[in-house]
Amino acid sequence: MIIAITGTPGVGKTTVARKLAEKLGCKYVNLRDFALEKGIGEVKGDELEVEVDELAYFVEKEFKGKNVVLDGHLSHLMPADLVIVLRAHPKTIAERLKERGYSKDKIGENVEAELVDVILIEALDEHENVIEVDTTGKTPEEVVNEILNLINSGIKRRVGIVDWTKVYKEIIPYLRLGGD
Ligand SMILES: Nc1ncnc2c1ncn2[C@@H]1O[C@H](COP(=O)(O)OP(=O)(O)O)[C@@H](O)[C@H]1O
Ligand SMILES: [Mg+2]
Repeated sequence: MIIAITGTPGVGKTTVARKLAEKLGCKYVNLRDFALEKGIGEVKGDELEVEVDELAYFVEKEFKGKNVVLDGHLSHLMPADLVIVLRAHPKTIAERLKERGYSKDKIGENVEAELVDVILIEALDEHENVIEVDTTGKTPEEVVNEILNLINSGIKRRVGIVDWTKVYKEIIPYLRLGGD
């Protein structure tokens, strides 16, 4: 089974995907490293620009029928049997990305993406088996256990569990609002 762990940058994909792969005893695959290994995409500063279809082709070729956990913010666009969309309070995303030295603009972009469910919507566009997990206030271990419980109970779809518009006021300081 191919499990894709996706979400806004800073949401906890790498942390959770590594632990989940370990617990399931399957291979952990960082999509960025995989793309580089295959010689596809172009590194631009901190980011890797890659043709999604090309990456999906290589993922299918290499991992179809195998047990892997795919880690990356494009993993929901890959062939996967189950897509886990990690969610976190946009303020948490902002704080983590600030610590990573992201610019105010880049932080705003990602906070807004989390606020309006960008990755969830993309995932739902591509897949039926989509599970959202809210990581807010949980430890990575708790998140991994929640995912394992969902998998073990055979749940394949669980969406619509967060609504960050309810905490919009807390998010306003990080948004790229109009004006100049
Ligand atoms: N419940 C949680 N799930 C995942 N990460 C968490 C959680 N709580 C705190 N963290 C921390 O948040 C950070 C997430 O970073 P990372 O896994 O690199 O995110 P991503 O790969 O999505 O950019 C790590 O420092 C991790 O320890
Ligand atoms: Mg990561």
